Amino acid sequence: MPQDRRIAVIVGSLRKESYNLRIACILAELAPPHLSLEFVEIGGLPLYNEDLEKDPPAAWRAFRDAVRPAEALLFVTPEYNRSMPGALKNALDVGSRPYGSSVFEKKPGAVATASQGAIGGFGSNHHLRQSCVFLDVPMMQQPEAYLSNVQKAFGEDGTLADASLKKLLQRFINAYADWVEKLLRGPGEIASDQHPG
Ligand code: FNR
Repeated sequence: MPQDRRIAVIVGSLRKESYNLRIACILAELAPPHLSLEFVEIGGLPLYNEDLEKDPPAAWRAFRDAVRPAEALLFVTPEYNRSMPGALKNALDVGSRPYGSSVFEKKPGAVATASQGAIGGFGSNHHLRQSCVFLDVPMMQQPEAYLSNVQKAFGEDGTLADASLKKLLQRFINAYADWVEKLLRGPGEIASDQHPG
């Protein structure tokens, strides 16, 4: 059994009824038990302003303190105007500074994007990946998760009704668990079929 891992989950939507939040919660339920998924809030972060670094806002400190101990990162986000939401970009900016003290650096990451549109947040997904290059966050390549028309995947009661989406999410989180182990422990014999589902 792999050792326990702390994962910081960052959801790009601030909506209470967010589909991305629902997807993130489902990923947390499907995750192998050694992954502890901890949701980190981004909605209360003041906009990044380097002048404030002399005495950083309490919300910045709390965010940095929450992400710092995590060993890996999981992003689940909508697409806003073909990119990531401003709140998520702001969180990346806050966590990346002061220069040399980024709370993200070298932590294995992955992104799933869910959208009510037809292309599943592809633009958001790849703009986030682009920032992760500079942040030195190695991102899982496969499976990609562009979840289109996500509103149709849920039943009246709000539960996930789409079996093929559930299967993809299971595959995604299993591959992510492997990715995290591979990067944190170095390459080894870690097979996806060690995980439930
Ligand atoms: C959107 N939406 C959207 N969808 C999409 O597929 N591509 C896009 O570029 C955009 N742009 C966009 C901008 C803004 C400002 C909003 C508020 C919405 C629609 C989006 O997919 C939908 O609102 C999702 O439900 C948002 O995700 P959550 O909040 O449900 O997680």
